[in-house]
Amino acid sequence: MNKALRDKWDRVYRSGASITAPATVLSENLFLLPATGSALDLASGLGANALLLAKQGLTTQAWDISDAAMCHIQQQAVAHAIAIKTFTGEITPSSFSANTFDVIVVSRFLDRSICNAIMESLKPNGLLFYQTYTQYKSSEHGPKNPRFLLAKNELLQLFSALKLVFYRENEGLGGAQQGLRNEAQFIGQKIT
Ligand SMILES: C[S@@+](CC[C@H](N)C(=O)[O-])C[C@H]1O[C@@H](n2cnc3c(N)ncnc32)[C@H](O)[C@@H]1O
Repeated sequence: MNKALRDKWDRVYRSGASITAPATVLSENLFLLPATGSALDLASGLGANALLLAKQGLTTQAWDISDAAMCHIQQQAVAHAIAIKTFTGEITPSSFSANTFDVIVVSRFLDRSICNAIMESLKPNGLLFYQTYTQYKSSEHGPKNPRFLLAKNELLQLFSALKLVFYRENEGLGGAQQGLRNEAQFIGQKIT
């Protein structure tokens, strides 16, 4: 367990300074979800995606290294009378089992070493919803460490084994005050 990382994120969540809205790649594409099945909010933070997935009727898990975030999710689940199974720990390729989830959502998290495990962990026809920060920045928003920033079209390359359902990377096109900037969105389906 990476204690320094866990402590860092616990501090973030205990300070109250964090995102509580679901990723738009999920909230704007809910109609793509299956009516039933299993879902994972990976590196869930406070679990806004998990909450939305569970409310859609999916059997939902949330994984994150932060105890504080997992406690928050459990409280939210009780408050909304829904079930979310939480797993607190460092996510590595060995965290995943093959053919487990119908839906995986990853938002504002990037660890290139787990991309193959994510795809293996999808069931046949399963969907991956991914949204995270790009190297292109229209503002200071988002991480500065290049390790956590996507190169142009990188989600398309990382998940090229999936069938492309949706992709968006606006960069500085058109009216840069409007629309999603600094983040790319990807939805892919596992066809086997
Ligand atoms: C920027 S937050 C994003 C949280 C949430 N997905 C969202 O969109 O608001 C990144 C999350 O990844 C978690 N995290 C970072 N590295 C991790 C790791 N190696 N294993 C598990 N969780 C990790 C952090 O605890 C944090 O909650």
